Amino acid sequence: MRVVAVMNYKGGVGKTTLTANLGAVAASRGLRVLLIDLDPQTNLTFSFFSIDDWHANLKDERTIKRWYDAELPGREISLADLIVTPKPVNEAIDHPGGHLDLISSHLGLIDIDLELAARLGGATTLDGSKRKFLDLHSCLRHALEDDRFSEYDLVLIDCAPNFGLVTKTAIVASEQILVPAKADYLSTLGLDYLVGNCAVLVQQFNDFVNHKRTADSHRPIDPAFLGVVFTMVQIYSQQVTLAQHTYIEEVRLNSQVPVLESKIRNSPRHFGDAGESGVPAMLRATGRDEVVKEFDQLADEVLGALDLLPGGHR
Ligand SMILES: Nc1ncnc2c1ncn2[C@@H]1O[C@H](COP(=O)(O)OP(=O)(O)O)[C@@H](O)[C@H]1O
Ligand SMILES: [Mg+2]
Repeated sequence: MRVVAVMNYKGGVGKTTLTANLGAVAASRGLRVLLIDLDPQTNLTFSFFSIDDWHANLKDERTIKRWYDAELPGREISLADLIVTPKPVNEAIDHPGGHLDLISSHLGLIDIDLELAARLGGATTLDGSKRKFLDLHSCLRHALEDDRFSEYDLVLIDCAPNFGLVTKTAIVASEQILVPAKADYLSTLGLDYLVGNCAVLVQQFNDFVNHKRTADSHRPIDPAFLGVVFTMVQIYSQQVTLAQHTYIEEVRLNSQVPVLESKIRNSPRHFGDAGESGVPAMLRATGRDEVVKEFDQLADEVLGALDLLPGGHR
């Protein structure tokens, strides 16, 4: 099972659209995919379930908020109990082995960061507080080690645009980080800051793990940046506009994060009605659409990097 966090400090850059569509394309190639919605805005969840459906069937019992609420002392639910199978998308997946599941989010997740941070305090010894740090930051990582997750090939986590504790649990749980961005200054401004913050988290986590008395069941982490994928790119007569091309090349030269070859064009026709049908646009569109080819290429690039292409090691 490969775990990938999808994140960017900026909202509106296409994280959720990319997570939903990449997950759906991977499933339609025969992979078993789990999407985790870790953004309190709940957009990924609403890409697969109607708001009415979510209120009636998911809101109270089956959201990630409930799991973080119960996290640590006396935890009563297991993460795997929150898995749901959205129907329309699975009916649209045209591959016998392919499957897509979801763990849904909740607006109340926005308060969880503060509560988790409060739980970090309160230890009376230095060893105690290091142990708490490790336990709390690893909660998602440990939960994903449950046998019931071993049936998935790929887990994509749609993160909130911040670096709060919930996001950090996603980084700790992930082996790769994928960063969607628009080809403009504001969307890439936070890139190196994100790299820096991740490095600080990794170093602190691993320092505590290497400190024998607090490590217990913890292993070091080493999440890698899979790369930046530019989304909503402006195409003019079959080409990326000169301004955006220049900008992307500048990021490629100057950023610490690799830039993926694949790009997703701006296509309001495909992504304008996000979520209403419960089936991501890439499973509704015809194969001749350029943007379908772009998502296919992105899937090749990402799944290739994760060793999940047919003929790879897995
Ligand atoms: N390639 C695209 N072309 C046109 N519109 C897009 C594209 N990708 C995303 N959008 C639209 O842009 C808005 C923000 O996208 P979203 O995926 O929700 O971003 P984020 O999760 O980063 O906040 C949404 O309305 C979405 O439908
Ligand atoms: Mg989003």
